[in-house]
Amino acid sequence: MTRPFDNRLQPIGSKPDDKLKRLIDRLEAEHVLSKEEFVALIGGRTPELGEYLFEKARRIRQEHYGNDVYLRGLIEFTNYCKNDCYYCGIRRSNSRASRYRLTKEQILACCEEGYSLGFRTFVLQGGEDGYYTDGLLVGIIKDIKARYPDCALTLSIGERSYESYKALYDAGADRYLLRHETADPEHYSRLHPPSLTLEARKKCLSDLKDIGYEVGSGFMVGSPGQTPEQLAEDLLFLHELQPQMVGIGPFIPHHDTPFASEQSGTAELTLFLIGLIRLMLPAVLLPATTALGTIDPLGREKGILAGANVVMPNLSPREVRDKYLLYDNKICTGDEAAECRRCLEGRISGIGYRIVVDRGDSKLAKEDVKSRGGRKCTM
Ligand code: 5AD
Ligand code: FES
Repeated sequence: MTRPFDNRLQPIGSKPDDKLKRLIDRLEAEHVLSKEEFVALIGGRTPELGEYLFEKARRIRQEHYGNDVYLRGLIEFTNYCKNDCYYCGIRRSNSRASRYRLTKEQILACCEEGYSLGFRTFVLQGGEDGYYTDGLLVGIIKDIKARYPDCALTLSIGERSYESYKALYDAGADRYLLRHETADPEHYSRLHPPSLTLEARKKCLSDLKDIGYEVGSGFMVGSPGQTPEQLAEDLLFLHELQPQMVGIGPFIPHHDTPFASEQSGTAELTLFLIGLIRLMLPAVLLPATTALGTIDPLGREKGILAGANVVMPNLSPREVRDKYLLYDNKICTGDEAAECRRCLEGRISGIGYRIVVDRGDSKLAKEDVKSRGGRKCTM
C-alpha cells in the first residue's frame, strides 16, 4: 500500500508550484475542479500553499458570515448503537463501553442550560438506538420546539427510513447531520461491516434533502488506508450534494475498536481540506470539530482561521460525557457546559472572531429554501 499523504518528494524549502496556486484561484472562481486537480492539490500541498488557500478561505467566509462564529449545543443523548463501524468507540461490539440513555427530562434540562448560555441551536446526537422510536423522538422534538421556538433543532441519529425522517421533520426538526464518511464504495467497506453500504447512506441523504431538512454531511480525514484520490471523491461528492453543512475531522483511533493501532489523521491535512471546502461551497456552514481540537490543542482556532465558521461544544450532562467516546482522548469530557462556553469565547475572541447568539442558519438556506415543505431534491 502506498503511504497516502507522504510529502517527502517535495524538496524542503521549495516554492510551492505556481500551477497549484492557479488551481486554487480557479477553485475560488469556478467552485469545482476535476478529480485529478484535487489530487494534485492534496498531494502537492505545502505550508506556503496552505497559507495561500487559507487567506482566500478567510476572505470568502468573511463575505458571507463576517467575523461571526455560530454555536451548536451538542446533546449526546444515547451511546447505544446497533451498528458496528470499525472506527467507532460506541460500536455494538465494544462490550467495554458503559452505555447510557438520557430521558426527555434530562434532554430538556440540557436545552434549558444551553439556552441560558446563549445557544440557539441544539443538536441531538446519538448512536443508532432502537429504543428511541419515532413516537418517543416526536415527543422530545415537539417539547423542545414548543419551549424554544426561536431555536433550531438538528438531529444526528444515523440511518432511518424516509417515513421516520419525515415524521421527525413534521414534528419540528430543522436540520440533519449524516456524514457520508467516504464517497468511495471500496473504502466504505473497509470502514464498515457489510450490513452498511454507501448506497444506503446516499439514499438517506437524498431522502433528507427531499423532505426539506437542511442537511450536513462530511467525512473523516486520514481514516485507515485513505488515499488522496478518495479525498478528491469526497470533495466531488459534496459538490454534487450541495449540503448546507459539512463536518470533517481527523480519524482518531479508539483503543477498543478494530482500528485501535491505526494512525490518526492529521490536523494539517484536515485544515487544508477545510480551506478547499470553503472555496468550493462558499456559504456552507463548516464546523471546527471536536476531533480537530483533540488532535491539536489549537485545532479549533486553526480551523476557524482556515475557513470554518461553527463550533459545537458539548451540552451533555457531565456524568455521561466520558461515556460518549467515539475516539480516544476526546477533549472537554470533564467540563461543565458553562466552562466550555467560556473557554470557547476566549479562544474565538483571541483570534479576532466572535461567538454570536443566533440560530446560525445557512445563508444558502435563506436564499434557496424559502419555506418548510416546499423543497425538492435535485440529487
Ligand atoms: N475518529 C474520528 N471521528 C470519528 N467518528 C466516529 N468515530 C470516529 C473516530 N474514531 C465521526 C464519524 C461520525 C461522527 C459522529 O463522528 O465521522 O459520523
Ligand atoms: Fe454506531 Fe457506526 S457504530 S453508527
